[in-house]
Amino acid sequence: MPARERTTARARAAAPSAMVTEMIPNKWDLPDLGLGLGLRTVHYDHILGSWPEVDWFEIISENFMRTAGRPLWVLDQIAERYPMVMHGVSLSIGSTDPIDFEYLRLLKALAERIDVAWLGDHICWTGVAGRNGHDLRLIPYNEETLSHVVDRVRVVQDYLERPLVLENASTYLTFAASNMPEEVWIREMAEQADCALLLDVNNVYVNCRNHDLDPLKYLGQYPYQRVVQIHLAGHTDKGTHCIDTHNDHVIDEVWDYYGFVHQRSGGRSTLLEWDDDIPEFGLVHDEVLKAPAFRRTAESPNVR
Ligand SMILES: [Fe+2]
Repeated sequence: MPARERTTARARAAAPSAMVTEMIPNKWDLPDLGLGLGLRTVHYDHILGSWPEVDWFEIISENFMRTAGRPLWVLDQIAERYPMVMHGVSLSIGSTDPIDFEYLRLLKALAERIDVAWLGDHICWTGVAGRNGHDLRLIPYNEETLSHVVDRVRVVQDYLERPLVLENASTYLTFAASNMPEEVWIREMAEQADCALLLDVNNVYVNCRNHDLDPLKYLGQYPYQRVVQIHLAGHTDKGTHCIDTHNDHVIDEVWDYYGFVHQRSGGRSTLLEWDDDIPEFGLVHDEVLKAPAFRRTAESPNVR
């Protein structure tokens, strides 16, 4: 999207809008945990030494599923004191491989061990033929993939005995086999599978830049009654495209879109992701603490 149009989009996100709807609870009455951070190893000593006033932490599930010793000891200490959420990267819900029930067994055991508020993964596939590529790969958006993923989500949820919270991933390509917009496919998938959603606002921005789409159109039709969590992150703007690098501050336009989402959802657990060039804990914490100002702006009668 050209810079002039992006500026216009920012202004529209902050301006009065006929699209604003009533604030709505999520379908499962899962709580607004407040403002959380991704738990990263470089911050362990700071957290264990000072128990900072963070509302909640999110872990990468796989970091603790096949390990023991200090990582689990640290996790147990932190989970005793903070609400926890699990966010995975290897469920591979879009894959054509059989569902990996050993993976699900470990996932469920970890969730029970630390009494997570909820758990989820990404709308993607990460491997095939039993091999995990560790990249979050795009799913073509059409009826065939919709049916495939819906069936798999239902099976996974039945096994886990809780709603799966699935995140919109960042994308850099489109498929000729796609015949519906991402947000429509996600809404249909969530409705048919009866699953929950994690809305990554930065990913929406990145995807809309990469595919020349309108973030407000995307966010304006999202099924907020199914959204239980929001992600925010920084990205790298290469001019012609954006890369979801999680290595910097959240840009102002993404904060404005966060306000737009807050208007429609009425408050969702919000997490800042900072995964590369990770600064000291206080700086990462300060970044997520910017969120209330954007919430207040969005709650102002002047922007409804
Ligand atoms: Fe995310």
